[in-house]
Amino acid sequence: MAIATVQEDNKLCTSKIDRETLLLFCKNAAARPEFISQAQEYASCCYEELAGANYTLCDKTFQNPFTGSNFSVPCHTISSFYTWDSLKGINLDIIMLVVDGILLFSFLVLLESKLLSKWSSMLSSAMYTATPLGGLLDDDVLSEQERVGRRTDNDLLTVLNLQKSFKKFPAVGGLSFGVKPGECFGLLGINGAGKTTSFRMLTGDETPTKGIAMMLGYSLDKSRSKFLKNIGYCPQFDSIIPELTGRELLTLMCRVRGVPSNDLKDEVDRWTEFLGIQEYIDRESGAYSGGNKRKLNVAMSLVGEPPVVFLDEPSTGVDPVARRNLWNIIQGIQANGQAVVLTSHSMEECEALCDRLGIMVNGQFQCFGTVPHLKNKFAQGFTLLVKLKDSVEDMNRSEEEVMAQIEKSFPKTTIKDRHRGYLQFSIEEPSIPLHVLFRTMESIKGPGLIIEEYSINETTLEQVFLSFAKKQMSNTT
Ligand SMILES: Nc1ncnc2c1ncn2[C@@H]1O[C@H](COP(=O)(O)OP(=O)(O)O)[C@@H](O)[C@H]1O
Ligand SMILES: [Mg+2]
Repeated sequence: MAIATVQEDNKLCTSKIDRETLLLFCKNAAARPEFISQAQEYASCCYEELAGANYTLCDKTFQNPFTGSNFSVPCHTISSFYTWDSLKGINLDIIMLVVDGILLFSFLVLLESKLLSKWSSMLSSAMYTATPLGGLLDDDVLSEQERVGRRTDNDLLTVLNLQKSFKKFPAVGGLSFGVKPGECFGLLGINGAGKTTSFRMLTGDETPTKGIAMMLGYSLDKSRSKFLKNIGYCPQFDSIIPELTGRELLTLMCRVRGVPSNDLKDEVDRWTEFLGIQEYIDRESGAYSGGNKRKLNVAMSLVGEPPVVFLDEPSTGVDPVARRNLWNIIQGIQANGQAVVLTSHSMEECEALCDRLGIMVNGQFQCFGTVPHLKNKFAQGFTLLVKLKDSVEDMNRSEEEVMAQIEKSFPKTTIKDRHRGYLQFSIEEPSIPLHVLFRTMESIKGPGLIIEEYSINETTLEQVFLSFAKKQMSNTT
């Protein structure tokens, strides 16, 4: 506004009279000064720049031939922009621009360093007191907490009492675990248990309400950028730029991770081949199928070989062949000394990959340890499957007979399924030795006149998981 006003002011002459007329006027005015009294406003425009030094009229004294009085034509001075005049000056505007710049830059720094969200989470934890759900902690969970607290082991990643509350709601209520180089650690839990929130805190997306996380000696709180530098993250929901091709995205991630320019192509090709997306790599990633987007996200988290990789449900929506391939890749990177933190809803995947795992209920670990340890500790007993011979005459009566015999031999038995000669029992007595089980079953089977075959299965990880999942459901409903 100020600049426009000053420009308008400075253009006054040329806007009121065209340049050639002005030149002519100036020439005549020099020869016949009487013109000047009739057209003083033009006379002020006769500048050296326009008409040359000889024709400049301003600041010269002339005599009016009719009245005989003297007069002078004032020089038109070019106004400066740099004044404090609120209408024509721009000094105030410059100061405002500088102040705005400083304010917005500070705001950006606050946002980037997550200081704002840290303050807001401190404020919300002061305003709302979240009461964690769940009861006493399991002894394995406590001993891991103690081990991590001592910080004597050489864990790559240590997490101590990590908490996150959304207002009054405690989404994560004090997680503690350590991950060693080359280890695959699993976080299990039904939807809403707090797995993704834990990942988001450890990858810098969310600010923890409380707790400490250390990576290779760097703390998430104090050396945020060094902590985050060592992380590869495949989020639960695909995070890709749909307009970029897979190759462009992988190259971008390589550059972010500091892969040397000479190795870029090889690194991108290597992960493309590992994940089996060669066919699609030069297409826009927004057009990929769900499974291929997932593979691309996994590849993006693995390029540049970060020491710790967080994979949030990496195999959801991926076909079984690619899933097996993904398992091989994860085992490969473990052999390379990289640590993996994984969530999955496939128990098979957890059994195949996780060295240790914790089952989360309401934001807290309910159990912790290796898969065999959990199976032993939380054994639900055995599952017994019995198939009767098709040739038996009265199938219903034979089924009743077998059921009566089994229930008599194993008192804590419930029938789970009964369908045309197939019987499924749950023997809720984990302490029965296997040899006793088999001997009893062999005697019930006898010469095999009714029972064709039977099988006995130990507790599966799924059964352990389901027994904890019930807790979350009963707490939340
Ligand atoms: N930004 C948020 N605001 C409020 N509640 C949230 C937010 N993010 C997650 N939650 C809640 O926290 C709980 C844990 O969510 P999440 O970590 O996504 O679970 P999971 O990944 O185990 O399925 C859920 O009840 C969810 O509704
Ligand atoms: Mg999740």
